[in-house]
Amino acid sequence: MKKSRILKSWIITFILNLTFLSWSVFGSGLSVVEDRQAKFKESKREMRALRDSIKKQDKNEALHAVDFHIAWSQKLPTMFPQGSEASVSNGSDASGDIWENFARFERLNLDYQKAALMVRNELDQSDYDAAMRTFFKMARSCKVCHENFRN
Ligand code: HEC
Repeated sequence: MKKSRILKSWIITFILNLTFLSWSVFGSGLSVVEDRQAKFKESKREMRALRDSIKKQDKNEALHAVDFHIAWSQKLPTMFPQGSEASVSNGSDASGDIWENFARFERLNLDYQKAALMVRNELDQSDYDAAMRTFFKMARSCKVCHENFRN
């Protein structure tokens, strides 16, 4: 009688542990990929918003969009922890090469960040022509990183 109760509680503990363990391992692995993919999607929308607002010379709107990019570029590399590369189950397109050469990944991210900061400067000076030219540089920086580090 007593033995079976001990066994029962042991089994329950075991199952609970297993559940929590798989939540934390599986959960954290999934959420960082989902989080960064959601941010990347947002950044695509904010690129459109930035281009349209520069075209319309809507300074407030453009500053709002470019500030998103500056903030995101500061966070982007932290959203790529070791072991979060594409796998059959996590839905990620992140190339394993990122962790082979993380310094280069960060450099390409810095190109993105620098372009965003430059757009901000040009908007501050209401130089919309320059901001539009730099916007295209910024768009190229997305593409270069994708060509290097996205499957
Ligand atoms: C330093 C590298 C780097 C830069 C810069 C970069 N990306 Fe990405 N991007 C990636 C990687 C890596 C992935 C794949 C992430 C994943 O699936 O885990 C990705 C994925 C994406 C996705 C797909 C997200 C999804 O739902 O799967 C979009 C959209 C995207 N990026 C847009 C952009 C835009 C727009 C810019 C520029 C404003 C940009 N990226 C700049 C590396 C970068």
